[in-house]
Formats: sequence, structure tokens, C-alpha cells
Amino acid sequence: MPHKKKSENLEGIAKRKGDHIRLCLDERSQADASVFSKYRLPYNALPEIALDDVDTSLKIFGKALQSPLMIASMTGGSEHGRKINTNLAKAAEKCGVAMGVGSQRIGIEKEDAKETFELVRKYAPNAFIAANMGAVQLNYGHTVESYQYIVDMIRADAIYLHLNPLQEALQPGGDTNFEDLLSKIATLTSKLSVPVFVKEVGHGISYDVAKRLYEVGVAGVDTAGVGGTSYAWVEAERARNEKFAEWFKDCGIDTDESVKQSAKARNETNKDGLIIASGGIRGPVDGLKSLLLGADLFSAAVPFLEAAMDDSPERIIETIENWKMGLRIAMFSMGLQNIDSIQQLKGVTFSK
Ligand SMILES: Cc1cc2nc3c(=O)[nH]c(=O)nc-3n(C[C@H](O)[C@H](O)[C@H](O)COP(=O)(O)O)c2cc1C
Repeated sequence: MPHKKKSENLEGIAKRKGDHIRLCLDERSQADASVFSKYRLPYNALPEIALDDVDTSLKIFGKALQSPLMIASMTGGSEHGRKINTNLAKAAEKCGVAMGVGSQRIGIEKEDAKETFELVRKYAPNAFIAANMGAVQLNYGHTVESYQYIVDMIRADAIYLHLNPLQEALQPGGDTNFEDLLSKIATLTSKLSVPVFVKEVGHGISYDVAKRLYEVGVAGVDTAGVGGTSYAWVEAERARNEKFAEWFKDCGIDTDESVKQSAKARNETNKDGLIIASGGIRGPVDGLKSLLLGADLFSAAVPFLEAAMDDSPERIIETIENWKMGLRIAMFSMGLQNIDSIQQLKGVTFSK
């Protein structure tokens, strides 16, 4: 097991994860308005294609997806997490979509927590699965070996490093030393066995940040912007600091803006870099809008959380199938037959 320095005790981490699930399901954690309502899909009343022929499939890093959809990084490490990860993994496998797991730090430190992540690969042997841990842990004793360890734990296809300075600053006892992280992220991109993706947790990635990340070899940027779940609100609420909850709730970069800025940075640096749109994607129409703004995939957390808490995966499978069908219908209504035809429209100006 790799070297680590515990910055929070394990019971503390497990309790925090339970609080996160509870608070993310509280509607006050959600943005007041959708950032996608200012856009309207360019409708085509004469699409000249058949709905049955609309094909949403694509490949990322050699793996086939039935739809450009990813279940966002959420959980693991607790009994709650075990059930949610089991259902999400079964759904990802059945529906042919990608999935991120929640932060695996607890899985490095605690053997029985590790199993709540390993089961994801067991139930989703073919799905595109992304590992997850905070980049800031590079300043708290975790090394390349720790990150490779969590990749191997779930035989991941990629690893997400999350950047969450605002969340850590609002979390009592949070890990707030973000010094010199870019050079350490650069080392991970050259040493790890899988592509490195970087995400926020609900406060967005700017042009400048995306550019610096792509320049050091990051293979994917996930916006996790403002417009959906606010982790600032979640942490401030946990700390019972009403003022901080109010001041910081919508701090950051809106998801639509973050997609556009990341796309600009990608075009100027790593042309093969992926952009994953997330933060307030609340259905496939939002998802298609984000693809037109420049993303390659779209991802959501809270819309999949509640259904994944059932005792069986039926409801989450049904939810994801509905999103997949919704995307096909949205593409049909624009006359778009496949993912390539969306790519050709990327950057097109569309608004209400
Ligand atoms: C219950 C819950 C737990 C989360 N845990 C993590 C995590 O461990 N690591 C991470 O990178 N993001 C985590 N996130 C953030 C999501 O991946 C996502 O970026 C954010 O919720 C915005 O998406 P949404 O608006 O669709 O919810 C979590 C989100 C939720 C709802």
C-alpha cells in the first residue's frame, strides 16, 4: 500500500460522504436557474432522416459508448456508497455509458472501503470507468504510487483528479494547500498508466486553467461548472455557516461558459483533449446543447443519485435509457444523424 499521511480520520471521511449524499439531495444545493435555458436547440422541421437511423454511439480512448453520457463521480467507501456504486455500475454496463467513481482516498486507507470501489469493475467489466482522487492530495503525502494504486483498484480506463479549492476552504479542516500542484499533475500525466482527466466539483474550469492543464498533458477537462450542485453550499451548510452558504453558493464559472472556454483552450493546445460538460446538465437536451457548445461528452451527478439509492438497479437503468432516447430524439429534431454530424456543428451560434 502506498505511503499516505492522514489529514482527516476515516470515520470523519465516511460521515462526510453520508452528509454529501443527504445535502446534495436537498434542493437548496441546486442552482436557482438553469444555465442552459438561454439556449434553444436549432430545430429542423424537415430533418430528412429517420429516427430509427439516429446513432448516438462513439468511442473514447478505444472504448465504445452507446451514448456520449457519463455518470459523474459520486461515491464509494460506505454502506450507502456500496449500494449506489453497485447500481450505477450495473447501469453503466447495461446502458453502455461511462462512469466515474467518487474519491477513492478512503479506499487507499481502509481495506473494507476498497471493496466498495472494486465492485464497480466487477459489475461493469466492459464499461469506461474513471478513478477519482483530489489533486490536492499530492500536497498531503500522496504520490504517483497512490494514484496508480487507485487506478489499479478498479482497472480504470482513466483517472479524474478533482480540483476543489473552494470546497476545501469551506470545509472545516479542509486540505487547503494548493501550492505547486500543476507540476505535480504534469508528473502524473507522464507516469500513470491511463489518461489523466481533471474536473472541478461544481465551480467550473476557466480558459486559463484548462490551457495550463492541457499544456502539461491532461487528456480531458470536465467543467463541473456552476448551474447544478453547489459544493460550496454543501460544505458551508455542513459547517452550519449560513453566510458562507449564501456568499459562495454560485461562485465560479457557469457550465456553458466553462465549456466554451475549455474548448478555446483545447483548440490552442491539445487538439485531442476531451471536454466533458457537467454541472447542471439536467437532461439530454441540456446535454446536446453542451455538445454544440464544444463538449465531447456530458455528465451528471444529482439527476442519477436518487434512483441509484434503490435496492435494485431497475430505476437507474430506466432513467439512463430515458436520457439516451431523449438524446436521440433531440438529435432527430435537429436532423443530426450521428455524433460526427454534431461535431460539424460545434461552435454554431444558437440562442433563444
Ligand atoms: C453525492 C455526491 C458526491 C460527490 N463526490 C464527488 C467526489 O468524490 N469526487 C468528485 O470529483 N466529485 C464529486 N461530486 C461532484 C460531481 O462529480 C459533479 O461534479 C457535481 O455534482 C456537479 O454535477 P451535477 O450538477 O450534475 O450534480 C459529487 C457529487 C455528488 C452529488
